[in-house]
Amino acid sequence: MKLLVFALLLVPFIARVHGVQTFWPAAIPYAVRTPYLNTWIGTAGSDSSKDWPVFWDGAVTGWILYIQVDGKTYTLFGNNNLPSNYSVTAGIVVETELTPTQTIQVIEAGPMNVTLTFLSPVNPSDLVRQSLPFSYLAVNFTSTDGQPHDIQLYSDISGEWLSGNRGQEMTWSPPTNTGDIVYHQLRLQTSSAFQENTHQAEDGVAYFAMGLEPTRNITLQTCEDTVCREEFILAAGVNSNDNNSTNRAINSLWPVFPISVNLGSVSSVDQPIVWIIGYVRDPNINYTLSGNSASLRPYYTANFSTTESALEFFVSDFNNSLAAATALDADLHNAASTVSPDGKLYDMLSLATRQVFSSLEITAPYSSGQADDATRIFMKDLARTQRVTPVETLYAALPMLLYFNNASLVKPLLLPLLEQQNVSLSQYLCAAKDLGESFPEVNGPVLLSQEGIEQTGNMLIAALAHARYSQDTSLLHDYYALFKSWAQYLTTDNNALYPHDQTSIDDGSTSPNSTNLAVKGIFAIQAMAEISQLVGQTNDYQQFSSTASSFMQTWQSLALSSGNETVLITYGGQPASWVLPYNLYVQTLLGFNLLNQTLFDQLTVTYGQWIDSSFEGYKYGLPIESASTSPGNVAWNAFIAATVTNNTVRDQLLDSLWNYASSNATSTPFLVWYDVETGSCINGSMSALGGLFAPFLRR
Ligand SMILES: *[C@@H]1O[C@H](CO)[C@@H](O)[C@H](O)[C@H]1NC(C)=O
Ligand SMILES: *[C@@H]1O[C@H](CO)[C@@H](O)[C@H](O)[C@H]1NC(C)=O
Ligand SMILES: *[C@@H]1O[C@H](CO)[C@@H](O)[C@H](O)[C@H]1NC(C)=O
Ligand SMILES: *[C@@H]1O[C@H](CO)[C@@H](O)[C@H](O)[C@H]1NC(C)=O
Ligand SMILES: *[C@@H]1O[C@H](CO)[C@@H](O)[C@H](O)[C@H]1NC(C)=O
Ligand SMILES: *[C@@H]1O[C@H](CO)[C@@H](O)[C@H](O)[C@H]1NC(C)=O
Ligand SMILES: *[C@@H]1O[C@H](CO)[C@@H](O)[C@H](O)[C@H]1NC(C)=O
Ligand SMILES: *[C@@H]1O[C@H](CO)[C@@H](O)[C@H](O)[C@H]1NC(C)=O
Ligand SMILES: *[C@@H]1O[C@H](CO)[C@@H](O)[C@H](O)[C@H]1NC(C)=O
Ligand SMILES: *[C@@H]1O[C@H](CO)[C@@H](O)[C@H](O)[C@H]1NC(C)=O
Ligand SMILES: *[C@@H]1O[C@H](CO)[C@@H](O)[C@H](O)[C@H]1NC(C)=O
Ligand SMILES: *[C@@H]1O[C@H](CO)[C@@H](O)[C@H](O)[C@H]1NC(C)=O
Repeated sequence: MKLLVFALLLVPFIARVHGVQTFWPAAIPYAVRTPYLNTWIGTAGSDSSKDWPVFWDGAVTGWILYIQVDGKTYTLFGNNNLPSNYSVTAGIVVETELTPTQTIQVIEAGPMNVTLTFLSPVNPSDLVRQSLPFSYLAVNFTSTDGQPHDIQLYSDISGEWLSGNRGQEMTWSPPTNTGDIVYHQLRLQTSSAFQENTHQAEDGVAYFAMGLEPTRNITLQTCEDTVCREEFILAAGVNSNDNNSTNRAINSLWPVFPISVNLGSVSSVDQPIVWIIGYVRDPNINYTLSGNSASLRPYYTANFSTTESALEFFVSDFNNSLAAATALDADLHNAASTVSPDGKLYDMLSLATRQVFSSLEITAPYSSGQADDATRIFMKDLARTQRVTPVETLYAALPMLLYFNNASLVKPLLLPLLEQQNVSLSQYLCAAKDLGESFPEVNGPVLLSQEGIEQTGNMLIAALAHARYSQDTSLLHDYYALFKSWAQYLTTDNNALYPHDQTSIDDGSTSPNSTNLAVKGIFAIQAMAEISQLVGQTNDYQQFSSTASSFMQTWQSLALSSGNETVLITYGGQPASWVLPYNLYVQTLLGFNLLNQTLFDQLTVTYGQWIDSSFEGYKYGLPIESASTSPGNVAWNAFIAATVTNNTVRDQLLDSLWNYASSNATSTPFLVWYDVETGSCINGSMSALGGLFAPFLRR
């Protein structure tokens, strides 16, 4: 019996790997590992086999892959910009499959069936591996006629990985052979520490590498793009006749850095050919606390004394990494199948997981004076601004961060926020909204009193959630006074119950008495009660708990439509105007008892009607408010899906989000804000997509 269930669960997974493609995101990840190693390929309107990969914002990051089969050259990706007499053909993409760690494309190149595996590892509980800023491209193939063919492969990258300004001067080293690996290394002539230009960093070193296999004929060269590519096409490999000039502008005769492999006459390979692409920033964060600045280094530097040794490790780790990634994919697939057997939640997690991890910079332990030898993680407001650890985004991503619970990702994300604000309780009466607006410079907390309830609520809820899911109460003890003063800000003058002078983080509205904001504030007071209980402060527990209950009773009498079938936007608001009350998910996440379950049942019926295609039918999910111009948000819809009490309605909500994720109208990456009428992307943070894990976390 058990075996049968197991077999049934596995069937869809296997079927999808070699099945007909059903999921059509507008852009698919190629190398998505850090805020600055974040390259995609658009799928809208064309075949990716002849397009340039792009940085998340759409700027080309030159990277091409050719295969030569019996003297005929095909692109597998990358826009071949050689004159037409070179007769290069684009391969035919026959299948694209996504897993949380991999993008797999099957491309036909004449008689060769080629598989590209872009592996961006996700290692939540191994911060050394997680922080290595490298990604794999593995290529293997089988001939469709069973015959051997003469095969050469070629891939190069350009200097476009180094700056958003393609006129910048770059420099490079001749190809290096360590005995174990070969690699190219390129950087800006003058790097600017911790600076960005058009979203790309200005202080990194790009690497392009391959492990040496004694039996493989590997050649490297540095030269102008057309020179190297023509050389490969005509000579079936590159030569070591490097251009001895080692600096010029990125866009001046486009220097490129190929690694080519001549496999001779073969019909398939046992081991894939693996290129490694990297973008290394060391130090990666400039951390300022109380006026003292420190350059923090990436976490892996605690284990590797040089970048070269880290790169050698990453190259040698491919088989382990692929096995670990495949296991993580299977775990997530099984978890997602229990919620959404049609595979649509898994499809979305297959984009979101890499994206959220890629927004994190993980730093090596450092003593700040406030906290000793601590690991700190900083989240970029990736794809939107340069804000550092936006607190509302941390809140949106909490479900994913808590899901990878052994990893304890929440503590190192909260620590910098807490230690920065703990320096002055009187200055930080309410919680800051982020740690500055110039990532990767961490300049300090930005306090905005108009977001006081929002961000204070987020911090208290995140702190309790972390303690509950990790059983680690150390932050609660260390920052108890700060948490208590924040909770007092919420209770004083009924601040959280009757929000005023507050600005919505969702639509900028400034209407007083926002019901969705108030309910977050009230849950946060309850969170403080439970924090007090966990640290043994019984009086505080009783006081905050009784305030939360009494506030919630008032909230219920003011916030609901007459039949309790919707939550009004503001107390006593127009009966026809409703808000998507995604903050109700906090009760589900933390197992609170403040709201009557009957209310959840009533709201579930309403959302079930709205989402049902035979009724009103929001095809792409629910907007944040009733207004017709109101956009949709993936995380907030996922919070509601996790909150509703009917699994059919939950599945319908998740399926509607999938309709957006799979709509290939525009070629932007999967971002959290979108138009609910058309399913096209608006913008929003990648990290917030961690909210898609909400259905897994219910207490
Ligand atoms: C867009 O998605 C549809 C399915 O919804 C698919 O048939 C089509 O091939 C996709 N187009 C591209 C360019 O991926
Ligand atoms: C293509 O044409 C250019 C310019 O006429 C010439 O230099 C080059 O050798 C030609 N290449 C091939 C493969 O014929
Ligand atoms: C190409 O490879 C894919 C994946 O391994 C396989 O599903 C497909 O049948 C192959 N195509 C041919 C023509 O052999
Ligand atoms: C290589 O090809 C085989 C057969 O098509 C496939 O199952 C395997 O996953 C491919 N990829 C890698 C990285 O080995
Ligand atoms: C070497 O670089 C110079 C520009 O610095 C360029 O004029 C020349 O064509 C390059 N030669 C090769 C072989 O790439
Ligand atoms: C290696 O490949 C290059 C480029 O195709 C070729 O010129 C050379 O003869 C090959 N070397 C061996 C030992 O096969
Ligand atoms: C680069 O310098 C080496 C050594 O001086 C020389 O052999 C080679 O021909 C030079 N390459 C070019 C493209 O000029
Ligand atoms: C780090 O940030 C501080 C404060 O903004 C600044 O004074 C310092 O120059 C920065 N350090 C570097 C290396 O950029
Ligand atoms: C908020 O709602 C309460 C209760 O309905 C009301 O007394 C108060 O005037 C409202 N505040 C504002 C600023 O409208
Ligand atoms: C609406 O909810 C309130 C508070 O839970 C409850 O007192 C009231 O009876 C409910 N009304 C309906 C029509 O269910
Ligand atoms: C929940 O509300 C329903 C109807 O509104 C009521 O009958 C029930 O007693 C309430 N349950 C609790 C625990 O308050
Ligand atoms: C769950 O929702 C579906 C769709 O709205 C509905 O058909 C079904 O009756 C509901 N189930 C329960 C137990 O309320």
